[in-house]
Amino acid sequence: MTTGWVIHLLTISILLFVLCVQSFQSLEVIYAINSGGEAHTDSYGIRYAKDPLMGKVGTASDYGKQLIIGRINAIDQILYQTERYHHSTFGYDIPISEDGEYVIILKFCEVYFNSPNMKVFDVVLNGDHTVVTDLDIFERVGRGIAHDEYIPFKVQGGKLIYNDEESDILAGKIRVEFIKGYRDNPKINAIAVIKGNIEDIPQLGPIPQEPEEYQNIQEDEEESTVRSRHTSGPRTPDPYSIDDSSMDFMKKYGYLEHGTADSDALYKESAITDAIKNVQKFGNIPVTGKLDNATLELMASPRCGVTDVLRKTEDQQRKKRYIISSEGWRKQDITYYVAIWLPTLGAQPVVDEIKRSSTTWSLYSKLNFKPTDTPNANIIVASGRGQLKECLKLNKVSQEYRTF
Ligand SMILES: *[C@@H]1O[C@H](CO)[C@@H](O)[C@H](O)[C@H]1NC(C)=O
Repeated sequence: MTTGWVIHLLTISILLFVLCVQSFQSLEVIYAINSGGEAHTDSYGIRYAKDPLMGKVGTASDYGKQLIIGRINAIDQILYQTERYHHSTFGYDIPISEDGEYVIILKFCEVYFNSPNMKVFDVVLNGDHTVVTDLDIFERVGRGIAHDEYIPFKVQGGKLIYNDEESDILAGKIRVEFIKGYRDNPKINAIAVIKGNIEDIPQLGPIPQEPEEYQNIQEDEEESTVRSRHTSGPRTPDPYSIDDSSMDFMKKYGYLEHGTADSDALYKESAITDAIKNVQKFGNIPVTGKLDNATLELMASPRCGVTDVLRKTEDQQRKKRYIISSEGWRKQDITYYVAIWLPTLGAQPVVDEIKRSSTTWSLYSKLNFKPTDTPNANIIVASGRGQLKECLKLNKVSQEYRTF
């Protein structure tokens, strides 16, 4: 290849690149939100606002943060990891004033269920137009894979036009609704409304295939599309039944005794139910004895790797304020790290509470407490019930407990 050619190719690539960037730059974004999550500017420069339904309707979930979402670059993972679901129909109002062509982009990702037919719902635009029917995200793309719906519509003289149907736009707002059906809750991960044609909209790439599926793709193509692409997580059709990771959690954090044999079947059902109830009591969530959503989310949330259940007397447990130390403090400056255990609570109230208690304690003990940003601290604190609680641990061996 001559140098001339190389330069030629280079110019063409640069030109193509500039063209791409420009066409996406000219996107006129009317509305964009990250459902169930915080504001995020994506790799196309679209700024998704924090979910406006926060604290108003339904449940915000970041359960998907456990997964790396397929079909999506590293920067934009969060759009598909957070979501809002509701046990009944819910939706968003989108202000639209100008006449023209629009596209609403609905972003979805199944981060929870492991088989088709678990979560199926419709999406309705402006109260009248069913724009997505029987959406079963898992069935379309599998678990942990992004799926977008692109819906073009027109606005003209106060009316929304979708295919051949028309509806009135009231008070300058259109509405997108996720309809509760028979199979679990409707949900949404992110929404964007863009003024323009569907051809101008950046779309998702192809669905990634797992390597082993390439080999026998011809022989059983039919089967491979039906088969789940991701097999982690609950294996049974009932997502609320016990799986290995829940058992591991309960063993790791001391809710279940480590068995002698490696078979979990040896645990009595009542022992498991009791263990789940303890997790729930500890996390201050409804005590159902079942692995419901709140419990699964609690188990999935980041936390310190310390045993929760200290197997202490009833009386001590009621106080729920422990400091666990090995050999007392050998230095005066003690650092502590707050592991955010309940996502709803955040670290600040815990830090405040520690400041309060530790100042009192410092008065008597000549110890200074300082918060740090790394778990490599003298004490790791996890919040249980809104105040300084449960797992306080000295980095070394934990043997002796003191309340303070
Ligand atoms: C449980 O959480 C998942 C993930 O956020 C959600 O899709 C599902 O609808 C929830 N189920 C219930 C019964 O709340």
